[in-house]
Amino acid sequence: MTIKLITGHVVHFPNSTANPQQDTVEFKQGALAIEDEKIVAVDSADKLKQRYPEANIVDYGNKLIVPGFIDTHLHFPQTEMIASFGEQLIDWLNKYTFPTERQFEDPAYSRKIADFFLQQLWMNGTTTAAVWATVHKNSAEQLFSVAYERNMQLLTGKVCMDRHCPDYLQDTPESAQKESAELIAQWHNKGRLKYAITPRFAPTSTEKQMAMLGELMSSYNDVYLQTHLSENQQEIAWVKELYPDCKNYLDVYDKYQMVTERSLFGHCIHMEDDEWRVISEKGGIVAFCPRSNLFLGSGLYNLDKANAFNIKTTLATDVGGGDSFSMLRTLGEAYKVFQLQNITMDPLAGLYMMTRGAADALQLPDIGDFNPGTYADFTVLDPHFNALSSLRLKDADKAEDILFALSMLADERTTAATWIAGKPVWEYQQ
Ligand code: GUN
Ligand code: ZN
Repeated sequence: MTIKLITGHVVHFPNSTANPQQDTVEFKQGALAIEDEKIVAVDSADKLKQRYPEANIVDYGNKLIVPGFIDTHLHFPQTEMIASFGEQLIDWLNKYTFPTERQFEDPAYSRKIADFFLQQLWMNGTTTAAVWATVHKNSAEQLFSVAYERNMQLLTGKVCMDRHCPDYLQDTPESAQKESAELIAQWHNKGRLKYAITPRFAPTSTEKQMAMLGELMSSYNDVYLQTHLSENQQEIAWVKELYPDCKNYLDVYDKYQMVTERSLFGHCIHMEDDEWRVISEKGGIVAFCPRSNLFLGSGLYNLDKANAFNIKTTLATDVGGGDSFSMLRTLGEAYKVFQLQNITMDPLAGLYMMTRGAADALQLPDIGDFNPGTYADFTVLDPHFNALSSLRLKDADKAEDILFALSMLADERTTAATWIAGKPVWEYQQ
């Protein structure tokens, strides 16, 4: 098998670290050596050209080559309702989300949107995502199937909800457990795919459904769980009414064995200390969704507090509550959310959060960095993708400066190329 050398300005984090600024590895004239679907070496371009004189070279000049972004929370069926006007969470779900999700009872429609959705991820540099389907089993199957064809690492699951949503979107405790188990048997660990059991949130599941899904979760040791937690004040008050015996919102999930180190909680904005403590003790993961949290008027994520409790915070777009597929622009919004709280977020810490940090949190050792043996999942960012970015970055050659400006200015022209498992899935055509 011939080696490919991908040359450019290479940046990654080869190790887990609490200090990404110090532990960044950067080769300004660097290269990745790729054999088939995996990385075999990362180093300066000169060294790798000497080591592999026969290699085919793909030269990206002074563009940045970074590990593919990992988006830990977004909804593929909400692609077409992105940027819907005027509501906060509960009204937004009723007015826009539920009617849109109804269409996914049709497998052909699910397939069409799954295709479109993955294109959007790739053109924004995202190579792995934890994605929500709809209540319809076929919607998860269609997304799995498209991702499988591209050898992509992707997590998804059928949404489970058996109350407080329109009849046409309801499953039952039994069908939710059975269909989730069937999907796990068919798709979990097929290629690079992973299953996430997906109760929408506490208000839309009966206690019986929660119990049956908790039981299902406990019967595997490597399946994930994703849900929403503490996003909006009206939602939190509703959960208190529906589950009067629980101490707080997280306690509902904890009661049903859903707080584990493979559990991903979207939002976590209005958290009590006791909730942070339990997530921390049990190793749960937070998907921080700054664009959605602002778009839906939900609130500001408190990173200092999360860090004080040693919480694994990952970054997510939450499309269609979030108004962009771009992880870079989502990082830009995170920066602003932290500015409002007098917290400074370093761009390299941001890059770590959406690459190696997320891979660690999700226990996915084959992605997130360029260490030999990992999958060649990477994205190529053009600092000069338009006149304004060229002017702004004319003298910039440090990764942190380039990343920061791109986190504010990026659009899909920024992503010159995205590769998954050693193959390009997106190339920007000028
Ligand atoms: N809570 C329950 N469902 C949803 C959803 O689809 N999006 C967001 N942002 N929050 C939710
Ligand atoms: Zn969500």
